[in-house]
Amino acid sequence: MKISGGAVALVLCALWCSRGIVPAARAQAAERVIIDTDPGTDDALAMLLALRSPELRVEALTVVAGNVTASVGVENALKIVSLAGRCDVPVAEGAQRPLHAKLNIEPFWNGPGGLGGAELPASNCKADPRFGPDVIIELVHKYPHEITIIGVGPETNLALAILKDPTIVPLVKRVILMAGSISGGNVNGAAEFNVYCDPDAADLVFRAGWPITMVGLDVTEITLISSAQVDEIERGGSAEAKFAAAVARFQVGLYQGTGFGGGAIHDALAVGAAIDPSFLKLRAMHIDVETEGRIARGETVANRLGTVDHVVDKGDHLETVGVDEVKPNAQVAVGIDSERFLKLFIARLSGSGAGATGSKP
Ligand code: BDR
Ligand code: CA
Repeated sequence: MKISGGAVALVLCALWCSRGIVPAARAQAAERVIIDTDPGTDDALAMLLALRSPELRVEALTVVAGNVTASVGVENALKIVSLAGRCDVPVAEGAQRPLHAKLNIEPFWNGPGGLGGAELPASNCKADPRFGPDVIIELVHKYPHEITIIGVGPETNLALAILKDPTIVPLVKRVILMAGSISGGNVNGAAEFNVYCDPDAADLVFRAGWPITMVGLDVTEITLISSAQVDEIERGGSAEAKFAAAVARFQVGLYQGTGFGGGAIHDALAVGAAIDPSFLKLRAMHIDVETEGRIARGETVANRLGTVDHVVDKGDHLETVGVDEVKPNAQVAVGIDSERFLKLFIARLSGSGAGATGSKP
């Protein structure tokens, strides 16, 4: 029997499109991303979202110590790429501890093994022997102006990459960070966990001069997944969907009784920002990281006005005589279309479709 090209395309699309996979022609246009991560519950969800999104091409996962130790993080990342059938994605271990601070892992917030107690089979994939920051450096030079770095852990690996090879800075397309907050912390009143873990690294990363999108608690704590939405993911029925649902259910449980009304999936929003920046409302600001404060170490301090007072020392007193301009160093997410993002997140993780962005012509 002779089958026409059109018929073949129809059959392939029926297979691919129903699984949320797009044909090669579209995949070629995908954005190259490196995900720097400390997996970690919401990191796991972020990784799966990226691996299941045709808009992105995951060039590597570089692992940093944070939610869990770097070696546990690598094991978790390897299990996740294996689950997704993506042993082709390099998983490289990076920094085992912050630049100067003492490592602070978070079993309380991530459950046993770091994945909310969700069980995964042993991985079929092997770790890349290279050091995570070296992988970042190599990929940025291999694909100048094409790489988006999505940082969803403490910024240690990114800082080490800059310190070792500052020439990467102008060659990176953009850096999307799940980091910080301009409205209070989650570790304490001031600091968000990733920045709190390694404020010195975050300070370097914010001062580097590359284009940063900061996806902080200001938007991640108002984008909450509900139990009903977790059930929807689980009904997808695949091993990935069941795993994602188990992790997301852990997150919902964590936030029960806190007044939040759902589970935060912080890191997934940084991946969402790479898939479709229009989920976010951004505002250019200058962000300074407090590296020393008595009660605010790790705070991301936002200058919303773009100026600082120009103060002159007059001997026995100081005088403000004007203002000096401060240039923005980040696009800070100050608003989000949570409903549209969650729709995409659920569609991609359940495998029920491409979600809103993917269904655009
Ligand atoms: C961030 O800290 C970690 O606990 C999460 O994985 C996320 O990256 C939220 O503050
Ligand atoms: Ca994380």
